[in-house]
Amino acid sequence: MLKDKNILIGITGGIAAYKVCNLIRLFKKAEANVRVVLTPNALNFVTKLTLQTLSGNEVYIDNFEIDEYKPEHISLTEADIFVIAPASANTISKLANGICDNLLLSTACAFNKPMLIAPAMNENMWNNKFIQENIEKLQRSGMFILNPAEGFLACGANGTGRMREPEEIYEKVNEILTQGNRAPLKGKKFLITAGGTREKIDPVRYITNASSGKMGLAIADSASKMGADVTLVSTFESNGDWENIIAETAQEMSDIVDKKLPEMDCVIMAAAVSDYKVKNYSEQKIKKTDSDTMSIELVKNPDILKQISAEKNSNQLVIGFCAESENLIENAKKKIQAKGCDLIIANDISRKDIGFNSNENEVYIIDKNLNEKKLDKDTKQNISKDILNYILVLLQDKERETLLTK
Ligand code: PMT
Repeated sequence: MLKDKNILIGITGGIAAYKVCNLIRLFKKAEANVRVVLTPNALNFVTKLTLQTLSGNEVYIDNFEIDEYKPEHISLTEADIFVIAPASANTISKLANGICDNLLLSTACAFNKPMLIAPAMNENMWNNKFIQENIEKLQRSGMFILNPAEGFLACGANGTGRMREPEEIYEKVNEILTQGNRAPLKGKKFLITAGGTREKIDPVRYITNASSGKMGLAIADSASKMGADVTLVSTFESNGDWENIIAETAQEMSDIVDKKLPEMDCVIMAAAVSDYKVKNYSEQKIKKTDSDTMSIELVKNPDILKQISAEKNSNQLVIGFCAESENLIENAKKKIQAKGCDLIIANDISRKDIGFNSNENEVYIIDKNLNEKKLDKDTKQNISKDILNYILVLLQDKERETLLTK
């Protein structure tokens, strides 16, 4: 799969540098072209001659080793992927802050294709608040992070900080280059709800709303294209690369979502769920009477979002939508606090060009700390991708937290 791929390897100063020799051999065996760039500190752990011999190419260290036509940091960026392994705490922090004081860093700064970072360091350094913040920054910028493993560390301690084995790095590169950024949700299970629930009054009448299901459907489609294993719980039938379960009423939707919750990594409630249902469903069609008015008594439906937010475990994400016709942000902030979900996606349903039954949307993503991020008006497909990329980072954060607490 990696035949003729151009792989750039960046080595920084850490004892795990010696393992990269094996990584280069794996790439060469797969007939990939390998070029290597080192930080000056890396030379303390591995020699230029070894790397040159293994890669079959010139090895670069200095900013001023100039090619015939262009500076090296630009010519090196012509690779398909840049793998920094081992990535030291120092290089991670510089990368996250745009510092370019060696060739490896300048190259990284100019690199616009996938980057894979394999950190390696002492456990206390890995747990350091600033390092974790910087890792998060890199992740948010779209870099792939191969979190270090737990085990025996060069400093003599046991803990989390070991660079992943060359075979694991090789596999990750293979995955990124064959599936690209298109399958970052591979292995994740998503449940998405879509459509407007229908609460029956009698056999022919019901209470519903204006949801077309387009928003939920777009999220299901994007999640599936990003590699997630998707279950769509919708009020309508759909065709797509997902399991489709039909729910007509809020109660039916609640039962299905509740049952499926334990196996999910993420639930996104895009459906417009009726807050109330008819108290006494009439088995027969209700007849017109002489009275000019009639009333139907309604009772509360289960609040699915609130319920599953309380039930979910700490590795799961529950995301709600918020449909408001006034004071969008203010009400959305109140709603995320009332429902207890991880994020709320707020949209203004008083506008005709977005929200209900339109092909476009404009939303605000609001997190538990009440930070808001606006996604400008775009197609529901593009809005979905942006929402899922945001969620992807949260899922990666959760994986990292799990590693840290192990
Ligand atoms: O389907 P489209 O035509 O494409 O339109 C998209 C949309 C406007 C329906 C969608 O973007 C949207 O806003 N969906 C949520 C609609 C809604 O019910 O919002 P709400 O603010 O009333 O509810 C807040 C959240 O609680 C929602 O995630 C909702 O699914 C959930 N909820 C509501 C009531 C209830 N009884 N149980 C719930 O889980």
